[in-house]
Amino acid sequence: MTEHDLIVIGAGPGGYVAAIRAAQMGLNVACIEKESRLGGTCLRVGCIPSKALLDASEGFHRAKQVMAEHGVDVKSVKLDLKKMLARKEKTVADLTDGVAGLFKKNSITRYVGHATITGPGRVDVIDDKGKTELKADNVLIATGSNSANLPGVEVDHDRIGTSTEALDFPEVPKELVVIGAGYIGLELGSVWNRLGSKVIILEYLGRILPGMDNELAKEALKIFKKQGLEFRLGSKVTAARVKGKRCIVECEGKEPIECDRVLVAVGRTPNTDNLGIESVGIETDERGRIKVDQSFRTSAAGFFAIGDVIAGPMLAHKAEEEGIACVEGIVNGYGHVNYDAIPGVVYTDPEIASVGFTEEQLKDSGVPFKKGVFQFRGNGRARAIGHIDGRVKILAHAETDRVLGVHIIGPSAGDLIAEAAVSIEFGATAEDIARASHAHPTLAEALKEAALAVDQRAIHA
Ligand code: NAI
Repeated sequence: MTEHDLIVIGAGPGGYVAAIRAAQMGLNVACIEKESRLGGTCLRVGCIPSKALLDASEGFHRAKQVMAEHGVDVKSVKLDLKKMLARKEKTVADLTDGVAGLFKKNSITRYVGHATITGPGRVDVIDDKGKTELKADNVLIATGSNSANLPGVEVDHDRIGTSTEALDFPEVPKELVVIGAGYIGLELGSVWNRLGSKVIILEYLGRILPGMDNELAKEALKIFKKQGLEFRLGSKVTAARVKGKRCIVECEGKEPIECDRVLVAVGRTPNTDNLGIESVGIETDERGRIKVDQSFRTSAAGFFAIGDVIAGPMLAHKAEEEGIACVEGIVNGYGHVNYDAIPGVVYTDPEIASVGFTEEQLKDSGVPFKKGVFQFRGNGRARAIGHIDGRVKILAHAETDRVLGVHIIGPSAGDLIAEAAVSIEFGATAEDIARASHAHPTLAEALKEAALAVDQRAIHA
């Protein structure tokens, strides 16, 4: 039996970051990961490869359809899908190797195999060769999530697949049906639309991006439709199956749809598969998420959990914050995550980014608020780069002026939202943002203008 101070199960952004932080604080750390590459869903088959494809497909689309307007006449633009996918794989390999390097640098012991909890402080690692028994005072579960499926949808991980398969289609599908207009459906739907597929997005609800501010979601829908994505809202998918080289998708009360490929993107479920949590009495909620207290303690002494496997948004950076707070709590007795200041970003074109409360949430909870909106078309830099669609919306408390929520759809929204997250973290008012000097000409000036608009004094509106 090998002994460590802390065993981390799972090397996604939650687990690997927690392992590094714990090692920095002097703990003897082991990290168990069943995949040969570190980095979890995010690095291997999620955030990173999808961003590589989003960027590459955007480049293809711009070269083909936009650059001529800028006076750059690109005569013949050809897609080399194989090369595009290979570059994406290289990006993934470089980053996962980078995490392995960080493990070495921080003297973290890495185990490749499936972790099973066998008793208090006890975890077995099972691989092809057998079993390794580990022991630690503290065990951190960071096992993430798996793609959810729908009853009646026969996922074969080829023609009918999840985001993992949609990052690797060997050819551009003629027709791609996407089930779900959430983060994954919109990002990967955009990739294949830009590369030439006819993309039909089926969404159960009457809107896209549930949970995001509705004003932004409505604007996004209009823009995506202009880009050629077809949306069928109010479509409840009841079945999907492969028929030869084609797929048939059935929706309640509607004609079946035939297509080349189907992407199922209806959310993710916490992953506690064969983890042995029952052996120590770790409790889960009605959705299978491990229950934790504010310090990420589970119901079993010495066991902690963070990231997608517990409640909250399934976002890499949320898992990272929790991982750090959890191990700082173990070592120092305190750790901190401000859940009101965790941004969410959809990396479409334009990007959509949000932090804090939505307008609907404020209305529902009866919080009095003021609203400042600024359209990117009034921003000089947005005009110069030819990205004038979108807006910044700032919601501030009606009496204290404190920033409660910021919602951006537009160019580089995913980067611009960082200023908003810092503002919320610092308890800033809209006036604070309005008074801060923002360099000209930058897209960030749109935030300043939206803050000025909270007090009806935007300059370029
Ligand atoms: P999601 O929860 O964002 O969206 C799922 C969509 O599927 C919802 O709009 C839902 O109404 C719809 N749906 C559910 N059942 C349906 C049915 N029977 N027929 C039609 N539509 C149906 O889930 P998604 O896109 O799969 O993403 C999973 C998780 O991964 C999310 O929690 C997200 O936070 C995370 N993620 C984050 C990314 C980012 O930060 N940019 C990128 C990709 C994923």
